[in-house]
Order: sequence, then C-alpha cells, then structure tokens
Amino acid sequence: MSDSTETTPVTLEILQAMRRQGEKIACLTCYDASFTRVLESAGVDMFIIGDTLGMVLLGYASTAPVSMDDMIYHAASVARVGRHSYRVVDLPKGSYASPGQALANAELLVNQGGGHMVKLEGGAAQAAIVEYLVTRDIPVCGHIGLLPQSVSKAEDYRVQGRDAAAAAAILADARALQDAGAGLLVMECIPAGLGREITAAVSIPTIGIGAGPDCDGQVLVLYDMLGITMGRMPRFVRDFLQDTGSIPAAVAAYVRAVKDGSYPAARHCY
Ligand code: KIV
Repeated sequence: MSDSTETTPVTLEILQAMRRQGEKIACLTCYDASFTRVLESAGVDMFIIGDTLGMVLLGYASTAPVSMDDMIYHAASVARVGRHSYRVVDLPKGSYASPGQALANAELLVNQGGGHMVKLEGGAAQAAIVEYLVTRDIPVCGHIGLLPQSVSKAEDYRVQGRDAAAAAAILADARALQDAGAGLLVMECIPAGLGREITAAVSIPTIGIGAGPDCDGQVLVLYDMLGITMGRMPRFVRDFLQDTGSIPAAVAAYVRAVKDGSYPAARHCY
C-alpha cells in the first residue's frame, strides 16, 4: 500500500479503492506466524490462507484431503500475529456442500481462524451459497478458471477458457459470483486476454494466478515463488529468491514487481 504502514489493517474497502485507483494488489499465500511477519513487513496487501497448505506443508498429493481443522489451525496461526494484510481463508473441499454447512464452516474460519473473508471454488453453480453467506455477513471470495479441488488427475491441471465457449462460461461465472455478492475474485490459469476481459466486466477486485497482467492483483503460492516447491512449476511461477538471496528480499521484490507491473511478464502468461 502506498499510503499505509505494515500495521495499518487492509480492509475490503481499501482493496476496492486500490482497484479504482489502479494500484495493483500484492497477494501471497501464507500459512504460519513467522511468514506472516515477514510478508507484512514487505507490504503484502492480502494473504490467502489457502488449502494449498495440504500440498506444501502437509505432504498430500492434492488439496482434497485438507480438513476444516487444518484450515482453522493455520488461519489462526496467521491471525494471531497478523496486523496488516487482509486475510482470505479457503473453505476446503467438501465443507460447503449445502448452504447450512457452508455457513457453519465459514463462521468457524472467521471466528476461530480469524479470517476476514472465506474463499470457495466454482462459478455460477456456487452463486446460491455465496449469496447465502454474504447475506449473513460472511464476506466471500470466488475462485474461477482452474479449480484445484475438482481436479483428480495431473493432466487436468491445464489452462481453462481457451476456446470461445469455455471463455464465455468463465465470464458468466464471474458475473454470477459478483451478482451473488462476492467481494473478490481469484482467477486461476486462464488466458491473459480473458483475465483482462473479466476484470473490465466486473466491478470487484480480481486477483490472478496465471491470469495475465491486467488483473487488479496477483497471487502466488509462497513456496513456489521462493523456489522451494519441488517438481515442474506452471509457467506463471517466478522464483523471486534466486535473484535476491534472502526471503525478506524475495518477498519485497515480488511486491515491487506486482506494483510496477513487471510481474507477470509475457513469459508468465497464457
Ligand atoms: O489454495 C490456494 O493457495 C489458492 C491460491 C493458489 C489462489 O487458492
């Protein structure tokens, strides 16, 4: 944030103002207290306490086995020391199958996990659940494009919305989530042109991960951008540690690159 210190809490209103003013939102996943302090000192605006913790911390092959207890434990570790960044916590797979279940679990993520907002995956099909939560004072972030909770095979981790019909469906998903009251939208692994089109079509901040440079903000999995996730990385991942040599410097470089628009570059986009 250009006009705040790392102890000024970022709110949804501030994120909306950043969108209006064209200031890019720097977001990273975060799962524990030590990284919370490092990321906040570097001026990260927003955290996603994501169910990717199942893969990068807990050693699962996918996000599917992550439990509500896992999410509450890690979200609370972040909230205990967090003073600045806006905290979005994932509802894990299977925790929002009905409106009542979604509300009960979202309340746990807010009240015990200290989240400011919850995130769930899916587009128009989730609109009723989003509306149910928002009308009960639970802010919701949508997640469209690639939906890791629905991927069962490695080959399904691929770019979404490449043809006109698929792109139109994702745009319709974005509109349906906004109309249902979602306050933020994560867009994963879609062509840069579609990321630009959706960002222009909605009035809520869009946060891209492999969605091109024209989203209102960017997010990466923390361990991916520090180069410590083993295996083949998607093309949108940039290792910020290899050029900087320390974790605080890598995170500060990421924040700068998001803010000045140099990340993502063309080579990170579809
Ligand atoms: O689970 C997660 O960490 C996420 C981000 C990668 C967007 O959803």
